[in-house]
Amino acid sequence: MSGPALRAVIKGTGSALPKRRVSNDELAAQVDTSDEWITERTGIKFRHIAGPDETTATLGAEAARHALDAAGMSEKDIDLIIVATCTPDQTFPATATKVQHILGHHGGVAFDVAAVCSGFLYAFSVAESMIRAGSAKNALVIGAETMTRLLDWEDRGTCVLFGDGAGAVVLSGETGEAGVLATQLHADGKHNELLYVDGGPSTTGTVGKLRMQGREVFRHAVTNLASVMHEVLDQAGLEPTDVDWVVPHQANARIIDATVKKLGLAAERVVLTVAEHANTSAASVPLALDGAVRDGRIRAGDVVVLEAMGGGFTWGASVVRM
Ligand code: UT7
Repeated sequence: MSGPALRAVIKGTGSALPKRRVSNDELAAQVDTSDEWITERTGIKFRHIAGPDETTATLGAEAARHALDAAGMSEKDIDLIIVATCTPDQTFPATATKVQHILGHHGGVAFDVAAVCSGFLYAFSVAESMIRAGSAKNALVIGAETMTRLLDWEDRGTCVLFGDGAGAVVLSGETGEAGVLATQLHADGKHNELLYVDGGPSTTGTVGKLRMQGREVFRHAVTNLASVMHEVLDQAGLEPTDVDWVVPHQANARIIDATVKKLGLAAERVVLTVAEHANTSAASVPLALDGAVRDGRIRAGDVVVLEAMGGGFTWGASVVRM
């Protein structure tokens, strides 16, 4: 006989940002741009830039530590660590094993997921599936990036858009009303040339720099995000009016506005951090989620939609009851 369905519940959230916070004006002193252009086109006002002593693993571990504290757990309770990142500390081993080591954790499973800006949604879905399958009990799902290390500071079309940071959640298996209600993930590799890094171990033998055709990415982002949010709400049997909060990927305030308008969602229900963090790729959703949990906007019982779209293309959304 099967018991009540097991769900993956968010037990705690955490985040971490590099010490150095850089304004648009500071950037405009070195790059041919302006606070006015960046603000108007993207909504970005600041980004954090990692210093030499700050890496994807150190930021990820700091966010994980805060998430464990919020969950009232220690690293000993964790049997799965997934880090979503496209800026690993080393090509291998996985940054998740470095995070594990920094946390003083031994045993269990630790690996990385690479789906760029959708990475957190992908990692979240893998952890959720492993919890429901009974192969993990308590997971740390971390989105951590040092995107600024991939930037071409001569390319004003990209270098003003990204920042560094990390966010984390503790997911645990429970049988109640709370937990992940539905998830939808997608990928379409034919769009590689619209958003990519022009290097890699098996091609150039270099790390490479980020390249993007921004206008094209923008167009796809609005269409794909609106459609995946419809799908995931359908799967959960919910209407847009049932949603308490949307926690979107923070690439551009105009993408977020256009997407929520397409769904008929109220702008006041959207968590916006793009002004403060810029685009932190896989870190952006868990960073925004942590902010809204900590300032009391997102509360127990709320229905929250997480969504993201990025290089690949990859995109996805998840509906969670907190
Ligand atoms: O994480 C997921 C992936 N990323 C995204 O979702 C990003 C998606 N794309 C975007 O957010 C927007 O397309 C951008 C913010 C990247 C660009 O905004 P846009 O309104 O699409 O501008 P544009 O690329 O069409 O450029 C408009 C003008 C150009 O000048 P001309 O050719 O019209 O004279 C650019 O050269 O703005 C110029 N420009 C800049 N000017 C000042 C481009 N970058 C800058 C800059 N400062 N930083």
